[in-house]
Amino acid sequence: MSTYEPRLICFSCKFSWGYLADQQELAHKINNWIPIVCTGKVDTTHILGAFKNGADGVLILGCPEGHCHYQDGNFEMRKRVLMLQKTLESYGIEKERIQVHLSVDPEGNTIPQIVNHMSESIRALGPLRMTGTKKVDPSAVMNSMVEVK
Ligand code: FES
Repeated sequence: MSTYEPRLICFSCKFSWGYLADQQELAHKINNWIPIVCTGKVDTTHILGAFKNGADGVLILGCPEGHCHYQDGNFEMRKRVLMLQKTLESYGIEKERIQVHLSVDPEGNTIPQIVNHMSESIRALGPLRMTGTKKVDPSAVMNSMVEVK
């Protein structure tokens, strides 16, 4: 029996996901959770950075369509993700390794469930072997976000 545990990075927009929850409690339930202000801030370098830093998958939770507080940040992110998925597929990297959910959950109760669900789909794919990194480093991913203007 395999002991493989998929490693995910979860970006979530603070405007729709978990803003009423106890942040520390929620962070305790979600490994490598990165709350952000608008998913429009997530670009391809952050996703590739997550993979480079050991993630097997990237989950992005954004505001519902038409409800982005920055007008079209979630729409622009979704376009970037679609293009990146196409590019990665041409290198043999499954598009399921990047998943987007646009919805709202102020208490954040569904975030661990969505993460677990994605984890199961990544488990079926197996580990992503890009760097041989053994541990996800979310702080490296966050630092790369800070550097991006
Ligand atoms: Fe939530 Fe833009 S403000 S996705």
